[in-house]
Amino acid sequence: MEKFIIEGSTQLKGEVTISGAKNAAVGIIPATLLVNGVSRIENLPNIIDVKLFCEILKELGVGVKWIDDNTVEIDATNIRTSSAFSEKVKQFRASYYLIGALLGRLKKATIGLPGGCNIGDRPIDQHIKGFEALGAIVDINQDVVAAKTNNGELIGNSIYLDVVSVGATINIMLAATLAEGITTIENAAKEPHIVDVANFLNTMGADIMGAGTDTIRIKGVKELRGNATYSVVPDQIETGTFMVAAVASQGDILIKNCIPKHMESLTAKLLEMGANVELGGDSIRVSCNKRPKKVNIKTQPYPGFPTDLQSQTGVALAVSEGVSLIEETIWDSRFSYTNELNKMGANISVDGKRAIFNGVKKLKGATVAATDLRAGAALLIAGIVAEGKTELRNLGHIDRGYEKIEEKFRSLGAKIDRVME
Ligand code: EPU
Repeated sequence: MEKFIIEGSTQLKGEVTISGAKNAAVGIIPATLLVNGVSRIENLPNIIDVKLFCEILKELGVGVKWIDDNTVEIDATNIRTSSAFSEKVKQFRASYYLIGALLGRLKKATIGLPGGCNIGDRPIDQHIKGFEALGAIVDINQDVVAAKTNNGELIGNSIYLDVVSVGATINIMLAATLAEGITTIENAAKEPHIVDVANFLNTMGADIMGAGTDTIRIKGVKELRGNATYSVVPDQIETGTFMVAAVASQGDILIKNCIPKHMESLTAKLLEMGANVELGGDSIRVSCNKRPKKVNIKTQPYPGFPTDLQSQTGVALAVSEGVSLIEETIWDSRFSYTNELNKMGANISVDGKRAIFNGVKKLKGATVAATDLRAGAALLIAGIVAEGKTELRNLGHIDRGYEKIEEKFRSLGAKIDRVME
């Protein structure tokens, strides 16, 4: 096991370049299974979840050739099985996209139930409702989901999602792309990664309209074309992580290769906190020369404030002036990082899905552990901001979703060493 040793009290200053989006990449990689041919994916983040997904594809008989650290060619011509059970499948959440992708391509799928961040109950009932609406027969038995079609066909249908779900929206798009007829998803999720997966599928010849709105229409096509080249959208959450880090550290960061439009809810909050935010075409500069002001935040599906930026923003609120409130409406257990922040001198109390942040002047270094991916990013920022030395354990969580995170923070002046426990 590795840990970070962080020497704190750094005001982050400089430039950083954003990688491709994790949550788009983990939708696009399984989408390549829908084509009887080769897909070239560029700007993939070099992170554990992406590498694991590519390893799983190999286990299905799919050709995976890394061209460089961020580019892969995937050849799904000779896919040989619709079953994926290995331990790798259980190690991360997004392996559930194998159900939609394999159902779409082979009209059947048997998958070990996925794991992922421990942030509360993570049901997949809306995914299953979607597959069933397309005519699939779905069985969940212990830790296995088995989906099949009666006569080798999926038939387009109208599906209303009872909750706005990123995973269900993408999974249904994957299954419906090669279905017979038209599928509509109502109350669909609108996150940038939904649009990116739809754009990739359309590049290969799919007929998907409305991604990014709450109604997506998928007209099934007979087959997709091979030889598509696609570049993954910049990561909204990585962008936000550095925006918040600039504010929490009272620093000045120019964030390059990002999409300012995706950051509107966070930008609005950072402005309320007294930060300066300058939006460029594909860059954002965030600076803050005093303690941030208190704000109240409620997490919501896009374009609302992202749950995946809640923990990182919590660090800025922990050192803000005044009392702030965060209400988490998406996940049940996404405040575990506050216990760790309290070890560093923060004053945060949690009551169910609400947390009250009594801002303190300074955090102090301590030994803390990442409890999930975004909590890990939050605690890394906290270590950079705090006085003295912080030991941050459980780096596995962070490496699942952030590419070269310590290198990027080091280039902004942070003092971080990765050492063996
Ligand atoms: N939900 C249901 N039934 C379902 C699906 C979801 O009740 O069938 C509920 C969930 O319990 C949750 C809400 O709907 O309360 C939203 O869940 P969603 O399906 O949107 O989440 P997800 O697809 O499992 C993705 C991201 C998460 C991110 C959420 C919300 C991926 C691989 N994961 O999860 O990302 O928090 O959307 O935006 O795309 C992260 O990157 O750190 C992360 C956890």
